[in-house]
Amino acid sequence: MSTALVLGASGYLGRYLVAELAARGYRVRALVRNKERAEAPDPHGAPALAGLVDEWVVGDIRDPQISRGLSEGACHVFSALGVTHQKASPWEIDFLGNLAVLRDAEQQGVQTFSYASALGVEEGLTAVKRCKYAFEEVLLRSRVKGYISRPSGYFSDLSAIFGMAKKGRVLQIGEGTHRMNPIHGADLAAFMVDHLEGAPAVYPVGGPEVFYAHEIPELAFEVLGTTPRTHTVPFGVAEGAVKVVSKLKPSFQDTGKFILSTMSKDAVGEKTGNRTLREYFLELADA
Ligand SMILES: NC(=O)c1ccc[n+]([C@@H]2O[C@H](COP(=O)([O-])OP(=O)(O)OC[C@H]3O[C@@H](n4cnc5c(N)ncnc54)[C@H](OP(=O)(O)O)[C@@H]3O)[C@@H](O)[C@H]2O)c1
Repeated sequence: MSTALVLGASGYLGRYLVAELAARGYRVRALVRNKERAEAPDPHGAPALAGLVDEWVVGDIRDPQISRGLSEGACHVFSALGVTHQKASPWEIDFLGNLAVLRDAEQQGVQTFSYASALGVEEGLTAVKRCKYAFEEVLLRSRVKGYISRPSGYFSDLSAIFGMAKKGRVLQIGEGTHRMNPIHGADLAAFMVDHLEGAPAVYPVGGPEVFYAHEIPELAFEVLGTTPRTHTVPFGVAEGAVKVVSKLKPSFQDTGKFILSTMSKDAVGEKTGNRTLREYFLELADA
């Protein structure tokens, strides 16, 4: 039985990676910061990890002791490790954290390192994207075979839009005329586990349906059976607000840039998977 190490196992994608690997008969080693939280259900519908993990490693990736020997005996490493809502430095987590495990994996003779990056990292618009791109560059030169998925947005991120629709009104920046194909965590996890062979590669991936951004709140209201009420903030106004807030609070600058770029640019990857956003919203409505 091959061992697979999952980094970021307690997160939205990480939980689906653990479930997919366990279902395919891998022995799963999971790095988490809090085992009880990882064993409990996740707010976005991703699986609780109780009963799916063979070996828990509990710790923070910034602790140098954690990565030492972490991948011993593993054939594959899967990384969903990164800064999203956590208040932390993407350099320390997305770059140095993944790098520490890659260096250990090289020493331990691990075969593959499968990494969840993000669409558009090569444009380097935000610190998170620059750190992810820097790690991609190192991974592609490693003697461990690197497989990089660059996903569009995850369904989990769209639960915020559904939450606003549930409260009666969705705030939308700009006209919502950019396109995106968000992906379910289970579809991305299956894609990553399916792609462990051949030359190292970079895969821009997204879900099976392409939406104009304004169609997503419309779908949320349709699923809820309520009257669509969308409040549009002109893009220029949002840009101005981000500039002002960033001056007052420099740590917001990157988040602001990230929000503006996701609200204005197409994010469409190769279509994969079969889970639809309507099904996801229906699950949220029933929860
Ligand atoms: N969400 C999206 O729409 C999207 C789109 C494209 C790419 N991505 C990328 O895909 C990856 C997974 O995203 P996600 O939405 O699943 O994120 P998530 O739910 O926030 O999961 C991130 C994982 O990283 C772990 N982590 C963060 N800091 C850590 C630290 N210091 N030590 C150990 N573990 C740490 C988190 O642990 P805790 O649970 O303890 O915080 C969590 O398990 C990220 O790299 C993200 O940038 C996300």
